[in-house]
Parts: sequence; structure tokens; C-alpha cells
Amino acid sequence: MRIVEVSPRDGLQNEKTPIPTDQKARLILNLVQSGLVEVEVGSFVAPQWVPQLADIRELWECIHQQPFSSNLLYSALVPNEKGHARAIELGVSRIALFTAASDAFTLKNINMTIEQSLLGFESIIQTHRQKFSNSFVRGYVSTIFECPYAGRITPRAVRTVIDKLLEMGVDEVSLGDTTGIGCPVETRALINELQGIPKEKVAWHFHDTRGTAIANVSAALDAGFSVFDASAGGLGGCPYAKGAGGNLATEDLIYFLERSGVPTGVDLDLLSRATLEILQTLGKLPTAKAQLASLASSE
Ligand code: HMG
Ligand code: MG
Repeated sequence: MRIVEVSPRDGLQNEKTPIPTDQKARLILNLVQSGLVEVEVGSFVAPQWVPQLADIRELWECIHQQPFSSNLLYSALVPNEKGHARAIELGVSRIALFTAASDAFTLKNINMTIEQSLLGFESIIQTHRQKFSNSFVRGYVSTIFECPYAGRITPRAVRTVIDKLLEMGVDEVSLGDTTGIGCPVETRALINELQGIPKEKVAWHFHDTRGTAIANVSAALDAGFSVFDASAGGLGGCPYAKGAGGNLATEDLIYFLERSGVPTGVDLDLLSRATLEILQTLGKLPTAKAQLASLASSE
């Protein structure tokens, strides 16, 4: 089982209240102290597009002064060559490229068509492999079920983009239900389309806008998949996807897995407290169900 914690990136990118870098660093420290190992800490996108994550350099330097950082797998989002150059400068060996199964979405999100985005990724991957012996490249495919601008997306359209990313040599794809709209029937239909792809190369990235994320995890788990993205406190959303709600809460995922007999190595009580400082800064109360239950039981 691999859990990729995305709260410092996906969780915060949509928040308008500026969060000080040291609070982000403390969030990351709390997350790894709870037992999480893989954390997507931010992104090298254009700061004018996502101001909240403009401090990635300071944050990256700060978290690398924290204890045990060498045992952790920190990654960051890269949209284009300019972002990649910034990532290389900081020595970021694990990167996540991102595109979608809908042109309408990629145009809003990264100002490119799917084809243009893939074209850019090719040289980024090549350069990245040359620069880092321990490189890891993830390729996100957003809008796997529905695009907020173009409507329903077919499993075939998703498969086409996955195949192109895998042919280019990404280490894994992460399949994003960007607006948290899908139900298990759709997850299973997409899984049917994934035949021939090694399951360990596929991560699932469910948003929980309508409360269906954990049901989708269950469907993917039953089918033998074992990599899931989640965001502590259920923070999250995409500024360029109308109606995108928070991600699947990591607390809900950990509870679900542990209770189902799948060990995660994560301490749910510690995790449930990890986001409290940032929630306070944002003027929000905790809402993730397993987080609330854990906080209530430790009062
Ligand atoms: P653009 O405006 O087309 O870029 O944006 P451009 O190449 O025309 O450049 C415009 C200016 O931005 C130039 O500066 C560039 O140098 C600069 P100027 O000459 O005007 O001073 N620039 C940059 N600066 C810093 N870093 C860069 C960079 N690139 C250009 N990387 C771009 C294109 C891709 C940059 C923009 O659209 C962008 O940053 N988009 C990112 C949006 C984003 O972060 N969305 C959320 C993440 S995706 C997501 O949440 C989905 C996911 O969670 C999965 C799921 O849920 O489905 C992953
Ligand atoms: Mg997302």
C-alpha cells in the first residue's frame, strides 16, 4: 500500500488566505511524524496563477532542515519547462507532470491542449532522467470521469492519455476525479479499460465533493490497486475546476484501510491533529469524518 499525501499542494492551492511558509513546514512535519512517507509538498507553477504556492523554494529548503528528511519521498508538481528548471535548481528528483483527458480542462488549467502538454513533457522527462539517478516521474490525468467544461469523459479517452504518458516513460500515472463526481460503477468501468497496465503503475486521486471518494477507493482496492492519493483534513480543490471540492481525507482513507485489515503505518490520532493549525489560519473547522471521530475520542 502506498499513500501519497497531497495536502500541502492540492490541499492548499485553492485557499485564498496566505499561509506562512513556516506553517506549511509544520504541516509537513506533522504529516511525516504521523507516519506518512510520500508527500507532494507544492508546485512549480506560475506564481500569478497559484499565489498560495509561490513559496516553494523557501518551503523546500525549510523541510530539508527537518529531522529524517532524507528518508522521506517529497515531490512537487511541474507544469512546463520553466517550472522544471526551477525544480532542478532545487534538486527536486520526484516530480509530477499534469495533464487531463479533456482539452477544455487543460486549456483552463495550464493554457495548453492535451497534445501540447504531452509534447512538453517529453523533453522534461528526458532531461529529468539525465539529471537525477533517483528520479521519479508521476503523470497526472485529470477529469477521468467528467470535465467541468466538456461533460462526460469516456474510459477510452482516459486510456489514450495514460498510454501516451506510459510510453513516454512516466513511473506511474495518477488518475484524478478532479471534481469528485464519480461513483464505483464509473471506477469499475475505467478499471475495465486499464487491462494490460501493471496495477502498481496506477494511483487513484479521488476528490470527495459528493462523499463518493471512499466508495471509489473500495472499488479500486477490490480490483487490486494499492496506490491512493489523499489530503489530510480533506483539504483541497483545483482553482481551475469549477465545483471541485476537497480531496479524499487521508484520515478517512487510513481509517478505512486499517479497519479493513490493511496496515498503513500511519497513526490516525497524530494525523488528525496535523492540519489543526492551518485550519485555524483558514478560519475553518475540521470536517473530515474520521478526523472528527479521532479528535472527539482523544478529548
Ligand atoms: P501561461 O500564462 O500560458 O505561461 O501559463 P506563459 O508560458 O505564457 O508565461 C507567462 C508568464 O509566466 C511568463 O512570465 C513566464 O515566464 C511565467 P513574464 O514573461 O510574463 O514575466 N511562467 C512561469 N513562472 C514560474 N514558473 C513557471 C512558469 N511558467 C511560465 N512554471 C502555466 C502556463 C502552465 C505556467 C500556467 O497555466 C500554470 O501555472 N498553471 C498551473 C495551474 C495549477 O496549478 N492548477 C492546479 C494543479 S492541477 C490539479 O489540481 C489537478 C490534480 O490535483 C489532479 C486532479 O485532481 O485531477 C493534479
Ligand atoms: Mg486534485
